[in-house]
Amino acid sequence: MKNASTGREYAPETAFIHAGNQTDGRTGAVNIPIYQTSTYRQDGLGKNRGYEYSRTGNPTREALESLIADLEGGKHGFAFASGMASIGTVLSLFKKGDRILVSRNVYGGTFRILDKVFRNFGMEYSILDSDDPDDFEKSIGDGAAAVLIESPANPLMSVVDIRAFSDRAHKHGVLVIVDNTFMTPYLQRPLELGADIIVHSATKYLGGHSDLVAGLAVVNDDGIAERLAFLQNAIGGILQPFDSFLLIRGIKTLAVRMDRHVSNAEAIAKHLRQSPDVAVVHYPGLEFDPGYDINIRQAKNGGAMLSFELTEGHDIGRFFESLELIALAESLGGVESLICHPSSMTHASIPEQIRKSVGITDGLIRLSPGIEAAEDIIDDLDQAIRRSRFRWRCTVRTGSSSATPPSSSSGTWACPKG
Ligand SMILES: Cc1ncc(COP(=O)(O)O)c(C=O)c1O
Repeated sequence: MKNASTGREYAPETAFIHAGNQTDGRTGAVNIPIYQTSTYRQDGLGKNRGYEYSRTGNPTREALESLIADLEGGKHGFAFASGMASIGTVLSLFKKGDRILVSRNVYGGTFRILDKVFRNFGMEYSILDSDDPDDFEKSIGDGAAAVLIESPANPLMSVVDIRAFSDRAHKHGVLVIVDNTFMTPYLQRPLELGADIIVHSATKYLGGHSDLVAGLAVVNDDGIAERLAFLQNAIGGILQPFDSFLLIRGIKTLAVRMDRHVSNAEAIAKHLRQSPDVAVVHYPGLEFDPGYDINIRQAKNGGAMLSFELTEGHDIGRFFESLELIALAESLGGVESLICHPSSMTHASIPEQIRKSVGITDGLIRLSPGIEAAEDIIDDLDQAIRRSRFRWRCTVRTGSSSATPPSSSSGTWACPKG
């Protein structure tokens, strides 16, 4: 990663701490001050010192914007009030009649903004029904303006070949937008794989401490950057100075946090995969996963997110209630382990029929391992899995009853004869 001001190449671990323009030029303070101001005194009519109003420009936000641009290997960075504000502003680059293709399992909020907001303005979208780049190319038809990819895509951790998608998209003049939230620039750098625009929910690993909501976008192309800067100011969903400071602070420790998140995820995925209580594990960082080969070509490793399903005979509600250390919560990427039930939480805004067709079952559990000791996370999962096993006694051995117990965790049921 190249430092913008010195031009020197640094390893990512160093760049997270030193990239961008983060030193205060006036005092030499090693951290950029929080310029908590909405406006700037002007020296005379038409004479300002580079800043007029904080929606348009703020030095703390700009330090963050130059940092994320450097880290993603791009020229221009933009900071927004949330990941959705960044996605919404990027989608505002398009117009009535344009069609946005989105990868399967895209984040529920991305689906919702396309379906419930941009469709009202005459923009269209279609969800790709496979991750195969050839199928994608066939589905590029009239009006296709952009494809929005997540890889690994939430919550089944399905891997999309970013380079293959970018090559095919560019043949047809289609822009490639990659949501790099799950991987961060430490693990995956989509601009180098051909993407045109990167978006982030910086609320997740980049912030890293579950204490702020933020979004980022990065582009290389000066023309797209100019339009995005216009939209950022026109729509106004900017990140505030204090949150910009917090995010810069979070990014400084990204490499050490990610290394631990990833090693925990690997240990947990291995453990769950050999458990007789677990039916399936989705984790592209290990060889058993169908996305492993593509992922390892385009990313440093499989990242830190995984999902799994328990075997029949478990009460999923009881599983969540039995967790002691891991918090049942929306979001991911914090230092503390977070778990969620995608079909009723993160992906609830996707209609049930579409959810089922892409494989998001009601039994799917998504885990974001924190940076606690792996054995403590595993112990918590194990004890919750044990407590969620159905404990059923069959008391009635006659009658026309069901072969499986009802969906509560214990008691008696009228089981079949014999
Ligand atoms: C992959 C992905 N993209 C975008 C978002 C939206 O980000 P935010 O919640 O910061 O608005 C999320 C939120 O969970 C996400 O997981």
